[in-house]
Amino acid sequence: MASAFSSRACALLALLLGLCTAGAAAGRVDDGLEVTWGDGRGSVSPDGQVLTLSLDRTSGSGFRSKDTYLFARADVQIKLVPDNSAGTVTTFYFISEGPWDVHDEVDLEFLGNASGQPYTLHTNVYASGNGSREQQFHLWFDPTADFHTYSIQWTQQHILVLVDGTPIREFKNHADRGVPYPSSQRMRLYGSLWDAEDWATQGGRVKTDWSRAPFVAQYRNFTAAPPATAAAGQYGQQMDAEAQQAMKWARDNYMVYDYCADTKRFSQGAPPECSMA
Ligand SMILES: *[C@@H]1O[C@H](CO)[C@@H](O)[C@H](O)[C@H]1NC(C)=O
Ligand SMILES: *[C@@H]1O[C@H](CO)[C@@H](O)[C@H](O)[C@H]1NC(C)=O
Ligand SMILES: *[C@@H]1O[C@H](CO)[C@@H](O)[C@H](O)[C@H]1NC(C)=O
Repeated sequence: MASAFSSRACALLALLLGLCTAGAAAGRVDDGLEVTWGDGRGSVSPDGQVLTLSLDRTSGSGFRSKDTYLFARADVQIKLVPDNSAGTVTTFYFISEGPWDVHDEVDLEFLGNASGQPYTLHTNVYASGNGSREQQFHLWFDPTADFHTYSIQWTQQHILVLVDGTPIREFKNHADRGVPYPSSQRMRLYGSLWDAEDWATQGGRVKTDWSRAPFVAQYRNFTAAPPATAAAGQYGQQMDAEAQQAMKWARDNYMVYDYCADTKRFSQGAPPECSMA
């Protein structure tokens, strides 16, 4: 009932105003995003469907969201740099705009690799300047062959990272037990394609092959909305059993680094949230 009403209201608004961003039919990608750097290396296709970032020896490029958010569900489809993408990093992340020492951030960084070797999806969470919460994943598909949907759901309860709708990481709000959690600063979304050959690929051993430049990554179908709206409400409070099962599958099979398990690094014991349910 409610959704039938809202989709009809939406269609009516679209007719009246020529715009309608709520719901599955995403508008132009530059309704919500703007290219902010790269001196022409970032661009939006004339039909507004695809935002392309490119990287050459001189520069990478990037975009940001026009809006800022205090809790949001953000989805974007990305097709990553194909073939030998070693040294390149393609990103999609939330970051707050206040002072750096207390900044909040939720990161998705796709670390490129030599041809035929898997990309690494590097994730991290910063809250009030407290970072070092890295978890890394390989993907269960070739992320360069087609567009796939990458999502960050940021609510009062948790931060969820989803790949094609499958949750791969949950960072719960344990602020009541002293674990910093992003909940008071607005954040903006950013995306970029840049070179990090010193560390990105196999720890910096595999360098960027500049003879293959320019490197290109494509983004489309960007949506971001407050988690209160219907589309953004998926797993808003907590994940159901099916989602838990899906996340377990992803983590058992595709997680390649977990800060909570890095006993060398945290010789005094893992950060407190690692042992909280
Ligand atoms: C665009 O994104 C929305 C929300 O993530 C999704 O429901 C829809 O299927 C996507 N459209 C296409 C063409 O993939
Ligand atoms: C968070 O970071 C600040 C600044 O580096 C530090 O003083 C504080 O102890 C950290 N808090 C926790 C809970 O780790
Ligand atoms: C690149 O491929 C190697 C070999 O398969 C793998 O160990 C590594 O995790 C991949 N990703 C990066 C970013 O090096």
